[in-house]
Amino acid sequence: MSASTSSPLRLGIAGLGTVGAGVIKLLETNKDLITARAGRALQVVAVSARNRTQDRGVSLEGLRWYDNAIDLAADPEVDVVVELIGGAEGPARALVEAALAAGKAVVTANKALIALHGAALAQSSAANTAPLLYEAAVAGGIPAIKTVREGLAADRLLRIGGILNGTCNYILTVMRETGKDFATVLADAQKLGYAEADPSTDIDGWDAAHKLAILAGLAFGRPVAFESVHVEGIRHIGAADLDFARKLGYRIKLLGLARMGDAGLEARVTPCLVPEDAPIAQVDGVFNAVVAEGAFAGRLMIEGRGAGEGPTATAVTADLIDIARGNTIPVWGVQSATTEVLRACPLSAGKGAFYLRLRVEDRPGVIADITAVLRDCGVSLRSMLQPTPVRNETAPHVPLILVTHQTSEAAMQDAVARIDTLSVVADTPVVIRIETD
Ligand code: HSE
Repeated sequence: MSASTSSPLRLGIAGLGTVGAGVIKLLETNKDLITARAGRALQVVAVSARNRTQDRGVSLEGLRWYDNAIDLAADPEVDVVVELIGGAEGPARALVEAALAAGKAVVTANKALIALHGAALAQSSAANTAPLLYEAAVAGGIPAIKTVREGLAADRLLRIGGILNGTCNYILTVMRETGKDFATVLADAQKLGYAEADPSTDIDGWDAAHKLAILAGLAFGRPVAFESVHVEGIRHIGAADLDFARKLGYRIKLLGLARMGDAGLEARVTPCLVPEDAPIAQVDGVFNAVVAEGAFAGRLMIEGRGAGEGPTATAVTADLIDIARGNTIPVWGVQSATTEVLRACPLSAGKGAFYLRLRVEDRPGVIADITAVLRDCGVSLRSMLQPTPVRNETAPHVPLILVTHQTSEAAMQDAVARIDTLSVVADTPVVIRIETD
């Protein structure tokens, strides 16, 4: 960076959506305290966005405007490029690569970019002595990255994860509280602006998986191969599952979890039953929670808002203050940049306990058929729930809920595949993991 430490840190912001405008507002509103904490002023000097005339509730007067975001990387009067465009490819990636190559510090909120290209970007950051910070990429206003990378820097982490997607947590919470089905709650959430018009990135688990891959990379010191993370969403969860889970003493949450197991890294995003009195079960609505466990530190959980203008702008600006303070840290928290990614082992290598919801014919011998499959696959049953049947001539099937003891994933997958072929079973079984520790 060319500027001396007493001169303002000059910022070029690419992307003036909710977060970009929020950063400008925050810098203006908290100007004095930010300057005091940073040791120098943080001054936006240039911006780039798609629409120059749109009213964003902030003044762009006196700021240089670039139609093409990548030009920010070449502006000699920009010290830090703030990338808030989003997306793993296209202009966001091109801008971050160009800025690092030009030796400029970069702050981004872009989880997909870091999750997919974090290995190469870390190399460029190290080679060009250009910091790359991304606190806002994981769980918005929760200082998750700082907690793992700095607060827990001395400890060997055993696991990391949590509730990493507010849209899914909101939908599951409302389904539980109202008994409405997934499609109805999603449609309501879209009307209220809590879910995107195209909700697939959130509800199919990809957004949570990006955040989990980043947290796991930080926890275990190397970028994680994103394609090795197992990803499931919540489309298949029915209102009945929330209700049966409650009867069994659980709640259902979409969890991202990574841990170092005997077979290597386990990393997955899946809906899970969690005991209803567990701390994570109390995190409802749009809130996120990050859980970490270290060998010395033990377990901790931090909860907060995972999205929105204020929380995300606060995280972006905290990174800017770090840069102003000269407090920069390697991308994956370790001094030697490596492109050698860590691969998660296949899901089938792990273990777990499971909730299984079936729709079965209501006649003698059906449970014997099903338990015979479990016996043959070596899966031990812990409990069974056969709710009062709502059965009539047009709907001759009834629900049957099975809960297993800890078993191997491979055995469970085999059992479910076999149960699915039984003529007495209607519909594909719904399988949900149970997380008790
Ligand atoms: N769409 C995300 C969520 C926030 O619902 O949590 C940004 O990652």
